[in-house]
Amino acid sequence: MHDDAFDHVTRILADPPLVHPTADANPDAPPDGVWRTEQDCYEFMARHCPPGTRTLETGLGVSTALFALWKCEHTCVTPARREKEHLFAYLESRAIDTSHLRIEVGPSQFVLPALSRTPLDLVFIDGCHGFPVPIIDWFYAAQRLRPGGILVMDNLNAPSVRLGLLDFLHADPRWTLLARGSWWAAWQRETSDSLNEEWITQPFLGPVTATWELAS
Ligand SMILES: C[S@@+](CC[C@H](N)C(=O)[O-])C[C@H]1O[C@@H](n2cnc3c(N)ncnc32)[C@H](O)[C@@H]1O
Repeated sequence: MHDDAFDHVTRILADPPLVHPTADANPDAPPDGVWRTEQDCYEFMARHCPPGTRTLETGLGVSTALFALWKCEHTCVTPARREKEHLFAYLESRAIDTSHLRIEVGPSQFVLPALSRTPLDLVFIDGCHGFPVPIIDWFYAAQRLRPGGILVMDNLNAPSVRLGLLDFLHADPRWTLLARGSWWAAWQRETSDSLNEEWITQPFLGPVTATWELAS
């Protein structure tokens, strides 16, 4: 782990960017908090993000401030222009360098396919948690991971996030589980095989059966 990376986690969690409305269910209410994840997830990423790491995340918050502090070459995708404005104001008021931070405004399911397909070292999926958006995020972001690159998924406690994708990652030997917390998990990508493949190249999912049933 590079110097200070853990200290940055402690610092940002003690003084987080207020970019989300947490006290009011109305998404247009003034931001008064942040929908953050678990500290051990940030600490895991700190260990894998030396300066210059090429990172991409869906969703914005504590993690985005940390990627900036860790001096990653970072792209963040959020649909909320207001979040971007609040985060930049926060970073500038604390003299945190934003020169390596790029925030794309728009829903990730539409923005990610249009981004250039440059290689990435680490991807953090924590944007829209409604099915099938986490799978779409995974498809477009994780295909850019270099062999050995790391996928971090948050909110696996939600069925909408883990449905389908978790079974696939568990079955596919090209993904190795590295770490997990209560809500999140991280995998290492072992190959650069395309994620755009036919079912005959996915025998690890089991045989095709003659018929199918819905679980009652
Ligand atoms: C749980 S918060 C992210 C928390 C952040 N990762 C952190 O560590 O504090 C979810 C974020 O996803 C954003 N979001 C919602 N729908 C999205 C979409 N379709 N594409 C990208 N981001 C989305 C929300 O605006 C919000 O910023």
